[in-house]
Amino acid sequence: MSEFIAIDGPAGSGKSSVSAAIARRRGYGLLDTGAAYRALAWHVLERGGHTDDTDAVLAAAADFDLRLGLDPDDRSVAIGDTDITAAIREPRVSSAVSGVARIPAIREQVNIFFRSLVARAPQPAVVVEGRDITTVVAPDAPVRILLTAAPEVRAARRAGELSGENAAEVAAALHKRDASDSAVVDFLNAAEGVEVVDSTHLDFSQTIDAVLAVIDRKQGAE
Ligand code: DC
Repeated sequence: MSEFIAIDGPAGSGKSSVSAAIARRRGYGLLDTGAAYRALAWHVLERGGHTDDTDAVLAAAADFDLRLGLDPDDRSVAIGDTDITAAIREPRVSSAVSGVARIPAIREQVNIFFRSLVARAPQPAVVVEGRDITTVVAPDAPVRILLTAAPEVRAARRAGELSGENAAEVAAALHKRDASDSAVVDFLNAAEGVEVVDSTHLDFSQTIDAVLAVIDRKQGAE
């Protein structure tokens, strides 16, 4: 049975790139749970539906052959034989995805999928990153971390990633997503027993070191 390393955090906290770097360095699996919500949102749109239509989302979820691996060097996502790795990052999917994530039955369905992926993982541990991993998906995980950063720093990082976009627009979009995402699960405050790593004043490699220090301390304490 593979162990969960649960990492939650908002967009722009560095969660995805830090989780991938740690998984590679330690030989762990990597599970990007947001990719599952994005894949389902893409699937709903592809079927001509809207994600604010619960029936359309539930119907799409009943016919959802998601292929999501745990290899940090192969972050591909597919539905059946259709590769949607790039498509799930499109702005139209980013703006539709909250509609999928707000539905409790959908969250239950994807959580069962996540737990079974981790249970069958060949790696000794899987870094599982998302919004509710420390609280709902794996509240008993030996390592639970909330990776945060000040909103203006997160917006500046996102603006840097998406070249050509205006920093003010990025900040506004990030603020809007934080508001809709945190209405579903609270990932801005750490639950009891969850270690907070604040990356506001840390660069990428310092953030990796800070997260690894927590992992080593928690695993040593087991
Ligand atoms: O991390 P991300 O931007 O790829 O997440 C996409 C969406 O899925 C976002 O609206 C938050 C939601 N999400 C969630 O509700 N629970 C998770 N464990 C992961 C993502």
